[in-house]
Amino acid sequence: MASLNDIRSTFLDYFARNGHAAVDSSPLVPRNDPTLMFVNSGMVQFKNVFTGVETRDYVRATTSQKCVRAGGKHNDLDNVGYTARHHTFFEMLGNFSFGDYFKAEAIPFAWELLTKHFGIDPNRLLVTVYHTDDEAAAIWKKVAGLPDERIIRIASDDNFWRMGPTGPCGPCTEIFYDHGDHIPGGPPGSPDEDGDRFIEIWNIVFMQNEQLEDGSMRPLDQQSIDTGMGLERIGALLQGKHDNYDTDLMRALIEASANATSTDPDGPQNVHHRVIADHLRSTSFLIADGVMPSNEGRGYVLRRIMRRAMRHAHQAGAKDPLMHRLVPALVAQMGQHYPELGRAQALVEETLRGEEERFRTTLDRGLRLLEDEVGRLPDGGTLGGETAFKLYDTYGFPLDLTQDALREKGLGVDTDGFDAAMAEQKARARAAWAGSGEQADAAIWFDLAEEHGTTEFLGYDSCGAEGQINALVVDGAATGDATGKVTVVVNQTPFYAEAGGQVGDTGMIVTETGRARVTDTRKVADVFLHIAEVEEGNLQVGQAAQLVVDEARRQTIRANHSATHLLNEALRGALGDHVVQRGSLNAPDRLRFDFSHGEALNLDQLSAVEAEVNRHIRMNGAVSTRIMAPDDARDLGAQALFGEKYGDEVRVVSMGQAQGSGKGTDGQTYSIELCGGTHVSRLGEIGAFVTLGDAAISSGVRRIEALTGQAAMDYLRAQDHRVAELANLFKAQADEVTDRVKVLLDERKKMQAEIAGLRRELAIGAGAEAQDINGMQVVLQVISGVSGKDLGPMIDAQKATLGSGVIVFVADTGAKPAVAAGVTKDLSERVSAVDLVKAAVEALGGRGGGGRPEMAQGGGADIAQADAALDAAKAVIAAA
Ligand code: ALA
Repeated sequence: MASLNDIRSTFLDYFARNGHAAVDSSPLVPRNDPTLMFVNSGMVQFKNVFTGVETRDYVRATTSQKCVRAGGKHNDLDNVGYTARHHTFFEMLGNFSFGDYFKAEAIPFAWELLTKHFGIDPNRLLVTVYHTDDEAAAIWKKVAGLPDERIIRIASDDNFWRMGPTGPCGPCTEIFYDHGDHIPGGPPGSPDEDGDRFIEIWNIVFMQNEQLEDGSMRPLDQQSIDTGMGLERIGALLQGKHDNYDTDLMRALIEASANATSTDPDGPQNVHHRVIADHLRSTSFLIADGVMPSNEGRGYVLRRIMRRAMRHAHQAGAKDPLMHRLVPALVAQMGQHYPELGRAQALVEETLRGEEERFRTTLDRGLRLLEDEVGRLPDGGTLGGETAFKLYDTYGFPLDLTQDALREKGLGVDTDGFDAAMAEQKARARAAWAGSGEQADAAIWFDLAEEHGTTEFLGYDSCGAEGQINALVVDGAATGDATGKVTVVVNQTPFYAEAGGQVGDTGMIVTETGRARVTDTRKVADVFLHIAEVEEGNLQVGQAAQLVVDEARRQTIRANHSATHLLNEALRGALGDHVVQRGSLNAPDRLRFDFSHGEALNLDQLSAVEAEVNRHIRMNGAVSTRIMAPDDARDLGAQALFGEKYGDEVRVVSMGQAQGSGKGTDGQTYSIELCGGTHVSRLGEIGAFVTLGDAAISSGVRRIEALTGQAAMDYLRAQDHRVAELANLFKAQADEVTDRVKVLLDERKKMQAEIAGLRRELAIGAGAEAQDINGMQVVLQVISGVSGKDLGPMIDAQKATLGSGVIVFVADTGAKPAVAAGVTKDLSERVSAVDLVKAAVEALGGRGGGGRPEMAQGGGADIAQADAALDAAKAVIAAA
């Protein structure tokens, strides 16, 4: 029996042999379509190729595309588990022609593959065509020899395929398999077509039109082919099964679920195992493609699927978290064709386990409440909206989980009542926010959040995406179209809005009618505000917009942000656990990190911290992100920002490998922080890290600024250049410069001392002649070219020369004259140096002066009175 893996290969190989490029499945989150929640068919990744906006280097392609139908136009969530052919996740096999072959080749390709390679009995096949498509009908007749009654014309939209409200579309032909008259059901187009006898297996779309935003349709320049065949369906057929869940792949997952819960895969728990098997696939692939559980947008769809599965696990009797234990079975089945699944295995397991652990704490109590309420309901009754809302709000039960639980019992939910309770809660939140004194003009953003929901951020894994313009705000008022300065609100965006020290993204917004430059991105109430200026044409509400982040800038911001986490950890390692982040800035050109620490870092500490960060960059460890409850994150050893408030769940960013005992459950992780920012995926991307020194910014808080990547290299290069210039000046090698400078400084010091001595000697020179006054040797002199502070040592020297005597010097400093007097000890009882200075200072027009009887100093005002000053001193000596 061919396995699903074999069947997938047969399909892809067949078309590859027929000139088709085998293209990988695109990720589940569409990057090129703002209206689509998840990729729901093979053609999504080629949408712009069909419309001619984009070209590829091939004109034929074949894929096995991962698809999720859970939310939006195609939503199979509610039927999963209860029917034979509904899935939230499935694989769509397809072949595509982009303006290359058309109907005349597409039909024979399909017929040959089905009847020759898959060996399906041609007599069991029949087809539908769009009622006006004579051409397709004729080809079927010719190629397959089908009689008219097995070429059924359908006038409805069933045979006109559209990917969504806009996009390429066209008439289609569908191939059906007849399981035989022992199964109830009629052929397509008949009143009982919904029966199980005739099953659609392949849809071939003749892409020839494009559905536009205004509701009109235009013919495409080129005629193309898009086909889709569900692998699970064709697999069931080829494996002789009626139910997709009986195929080898799905069966392996069902058995894994049954084993893990020690139950019978086909017993009363069967419906639970089916749901678990399906939801395991959708949740694992979504997580592997970067979706994280949250309370908004795609993250909330993921959460809803996860929690539904978890309730079924609980009902199947699982005592411990179950879903993560089934991931290895899924990887064994599908990891080979989808290597991204294996790569993300640890993240998938961790995310599922975390969500299930958290949800289990309220699941039991919620289910008990639900049972109590149900006990009060009559048969076929309806659960009150208030109760459904309480289950949602207090116990984390998504509405559809409650509906799913009630469905088993034939009960419904008052969804209007649920919506009313939800609206009331939002109004309360808004009132509370308005009362908290935040910006008054924020009301408009709240209105937008209520009308359109909050903005979904796609920028963790991408710098470009399409979004739909929900609002344009000019000068605080909403407008339908805008030129000039405008704030743009879209449903989803790759632009990061300033938060947690990381600056907002910049870039471009481009629509059919104009382009705008985004100079900053901020957010209010989780509505992202693209602060922009329209540079060409105008922007219009409702338009699809290409949102392109300045990627080079974002890359440096990312590197700086990741380096900040490493720096935080390195500082704690070097200085101690008292180091706590007090602020940070992650800009494109540099990073800044403020932290609590009492004293300056010495050069050795700073170098050690820098070296530690660079070591982790070189080790090129992985950076991973998980969502968890704040308490769990703290248990894991995550650094949380001081004074920051966290919601029910937090994003936890882990990076690097610890040497010795690190953080995390395995003790191996270097840094774990709560953080909503964007990061490199491997630390090597940071490139290099260099600190610019540290400084105090307030008492007990220090700031380190640093550079990474090219900026770090440029900085080091500039420093090196300076050293080279110095070396050149010294005619020395760079590594000799420091010694040279030391020698120079020493020499300079010596020379300065020598010069001062010489200057003193020179100043006193020959003029220093002693005269006898009153029986004492007295030297009185005006000295030029010395400063006031030179006088002290000069007086001492003169005293030594005289042995016994009195000295008075007036220094002609060029500005204010200075006076100093000295009296040797033997004479200091007769004459006081203080009196001499006072007399001289007074004559010089100054005031004061003082010291001891043996040595005193003062300053005057008028050097022209220098001789008078000496005379005044002389008079004092003469009178002594
Ligand atoms: N895009 C087509 C489908 O999904 C083939 O059915």
